[in-house]
Amino acid sequence: GEISNKDAKQRVADEVSRFVKNGDTIGVGSGSTSFLALQSIAERVKQENLEVLAIPTSLEAMMNCSKLGLKTTTLSAARPDWGFDGADEVDGQNRLIKGRGGALFAEKLVMASSPKTYILVDESKFVERLGEKFAVPIEVDPRAVHLVETSLERYAAREVTMRMAQSKDGPLITEAGNILLDVRFDHIEDGMEKELSSIPGVIETGLFIGYSVEILTV
Ligand code: A5P
Repeated sequence: GEISNKDAKQRVADEVSRFVKNGDTIGVGSGSTSFLALQSIAERVKQENLEVLAIPTSLEAMMNCSKLGLKTTTLSAARPDWGFDGADEVDGQNRLIKGRGGALFAEKLVMASSPKTYILVDESKFVERLGEKFAVPIEVDPRAVHLVETSLERYAAREVTMRMAQSKDGPLITEAGNILLDVRFDHIEDGMEKELSSIPGVIETGLFIGYSVEILTV
C-alpha cells in the first residue's frame, strides 16, 4: 500500500546515509527515493559537521542540495567517490530502466563516473522481464527524431511515444535541450544499450546495463 511503500523508501534512504564518510564527493540521483536519501545525508553532514561535496544529476537534485545546505560541484571539476540513485525497473541481473524523471543523461554520466552506485528501490521496482512496466526513454536531438524512429523499426519497438510537457504545449525539452522518446520493447538484449546509443542523434538511453551498482532494498 501507499504507506508501507513510503516506509520502505525511507528505510533505504536512511541506510545509504550510513555510507557517507568525511571528505566524500557523492553523486546525487534524482526522484523521490533519492530525495529521501539526500535528506538523511544532509542531516548526518550537519550533525557531524562533515566535509561532503555533492554532484547532482538534475536541476531538481541541485536545488534540493542547495535547500538542504549541501555543497555541490560538477563532473567537470570533480570525480564522485560513490553515488546513489533510484530506478524505475530492476531485473534479476541488476539491469535497470531509468529516466521517468527525464534526468537519464546526467544520471548515466554520473553513474559511469562513479566506482559504485547504490540503487535505492522498494519492491515495486523489481520485474521479471525488463520493460515489463516501463518504456525505455531515449533522449534524442530534436533534429534526429525521424531518423531514430526509423532506426528503431529494426528492434521491433512495439510503441514509440514522444514525451509531452505537462505545463506547456508540445514536447518535453530536457535539461540538455533534447526530446525524449518513450519506447516499448518486447525484448531487451544486453547489447541494445550500446547499439541504440550508436544511432546518430541519440544522446543517451534509459537502459543501464553492466554498471557497478549495488541494489539497496528492504
Ligand atoms: C529519474 O530520471 C529516474 O531515473 C529516477 O531515478 C526514477 O524515476 C526513480 O524515481 P523514484 O525514486 O521517485 O521512483
